[in-house]
Amino acid sequence: MPSLKLCSSFFLQLIFTLFVFDLANAQGLKVGFYEETCPQAEAVVKKTIVPVIAEAPSLAAPLLRMHFHDCFVRGCDGSVLLNSSTHQAEKDAIPNQSLRGFEVIDRVKTALEKACPGVVSCADILALVARDVVTAIKGPSWQVETGRRDGRVSNISEALANLLSPFANITQLKAGFQQRGLSAKDLVVLSGGHTIGISHCFSFAPRLYNFTGKGDTDPSLDPNYIARLKVKCPPGAVAPIVEMDPGSSKIFDDDYYTMVSKRRGLFHSDASLLDDSETKAYVINHASTLGSASFFEDFGVSMVNMGRVAVLTGKAGEIRKQCALVN
Ligand code: HEM
Repeated sequence: MPSLKLCSSFFLQLIFTLFVFDLANAQGLKVGFYEETCPQAEAVVKKTIVPVIAEAPSLAAPLLRMHFHDCFVRGCDGSVLLNSSTHQAEKDAIPNQSLRGFEVIDRVKTALEKACPGVVSCADILALVARDVVTAIKGPSWQVETGRRDGRVSNISEALANLLSPFANITQLKAGFQQRGLSAKDLVVLSGGHTIGISHCFSFAPRLYNFTGKGDTDPSLDPNYIARLKVKCPPGAVAPIVEMDPGSSKIFDDDYYTMVSKRRGLFHSDASLLDDSETKAYVINHASTLGSASFFEDFGVSMVNMGRVAVLTGKAGEIRKQCALVN
């Protein structure tokens, strides 16, 4: 039956070609994308970041958050870094006004432009910096896929529409992640990023004073913790900040899950992780120190997943010369 044999080998060939094409097309990202065009790229990023974080460890948190805020608005395309021009950019949206560390990204970009002009995208810098800051504060390391290109558009309205609210419930959070190809596991794992950093009172104050508009408190928040938070955030206080993981907010560990399991997650979105069987099981399992190794591993995997959201690759977009400006 030569024709049948010929036919099946043709189909195998076709499936193989489609598969390879699809893999290349789906992402265009790979570990070591700059191996030939700028072999020292990752070393340059690390060399810039390590001393910055050694001197100012509190910058690790906003730099990690910056990659998340980039990826959730128009995909990981560096749009969060663009300055406002004729219109207001993502940077101007309230959730982005508390981002810090843009000058660190610029410093990395300057070093990379010196080493390999016009090669490394700002979107990739955000992904590499997110990894390096976490590693620098005793967190895990992972292999970062690169090959993203930079977008040319940044709108305040898109940031406001796409960044998730700290008052979101589990249905909204899961939907927000799912829309970007991310799972409930990615949600609970990446929320573990709240093991570092700070929050302004306004991001959770209604939980203390006016949860449903009747002057009540959020019943999902530990009343003893509410009392402590009220001291730090008196009624109407906007400017004060609190550590999200008190006492170890500059060290990347798995304390976050202990906090959430004790009903001490700072945001309603953190507390909501107890309202879904899968995310709850993860929180409970990782609330003991036994879970830290797997959390570290999971965090790297989920960061890679997040870093794939709606990326521009190939000939799309551009490689910006300066991260705050389109070319
Ligand atoms: C799941 C939905 C999420 C919501 C609703 C949320 C919300 C927030 C809010 C409201 C703040 C405090 C902002 C302020 O008042 O200054 C914050 C801080 C932070 N978030 Fe999230 N976040 C989410 C997911 C993530 C993810 C996925 C990451 C990273 C993997 C992350 C990393 C951080 C970090 C590190 C900080 C501290 C920033 C600092 O110290 O300046 N968050 N988040």
